[in-house]
Amino acid sequence: MTTEGIDNPAAYWGELWTSGRRYTRLSAPETALLSQYAGPGRERLALDIGCGDGALTRHLAGLGYQATGLDCTPAAPALTERSTGPVRYHCADIEAQQPPPLPQRAHALITTRLVYAFIKDKPAFLSRIRGLLAPGGLFWVVTPMARSLPPNHASIGITGEDEELLTSPWAMVRATDVGILRCYALRDGGGDDAGKETRGH
Ligand SMILES: C[S@@+](CC[C@H](N)C(=O)[O-])C[C@H]1O[C@@H](n2cnc3c(N)ncnc32)[C@H](O)[C@@H]1O
Repeated sequence: MTTEGIDNPAAYWGELWTSGRRYTRLSAPETALLSQYAGPGRERLALDIGCGDGALTRHLAGLGYQATGLDCTPAAPALTERSTGPVRYHCADIEAQQPPPLPQRAHALITTRLVYAFIKDKPAFLSRIRGLLAPGGLFWVVTPMARSLPPNHASIGITGEDEELLTSPWAMVRATDVGILRCYALRDGGGDDAGKETRGH
């Protein structure tokens, strides 16, 4: 798979989902790590960007969040499910010129798993995240690193430069490798770990 030439993410991803393509499943070590940083939802809002099959969105609801899964293609399996109870789905391109109609500075948790490498304008995306995240909220990013992948798959991972851009603005940065996936817990002032910066991985 290559990320080059994804001019129309809805069509690109729609074709992959429709052809039966599936992605690395959510693992127990990943969800345990996420629970450690995110804590119980207590009905606060969470947003899962690029929710795909909805496994992570449903997991967030299981932690007690009011979870919205957002995906750019209606062919994503989660978007074919009905929104019920604490799980809602929404079809929108997070990079669209118009931001999705979601509450601003309101989400205690924003997750994005296996998506960040595909974001075309990362600075604009990160500024959109900041607009959606509540003060002290957690931004959880799961992605492979390009250097851990075979050269013909490197574009589905992020570079060291991408990592610097992603992590440098946050007060708290934790990075943990789970297999070939790197999990980032990012938070600004106001959270439990605010001010205690670590960059271990
Ligand atoms: C590799 S899949 C990962 C799906 C899921 N997060 C997972 O961990 O299994 C990437 C997902 O992100 C969605 N996506 C990619 N670019 C997007 C964008 N700009 N806005 C919203 N969703 C996007 C795709 O439609 C696809 O469902």
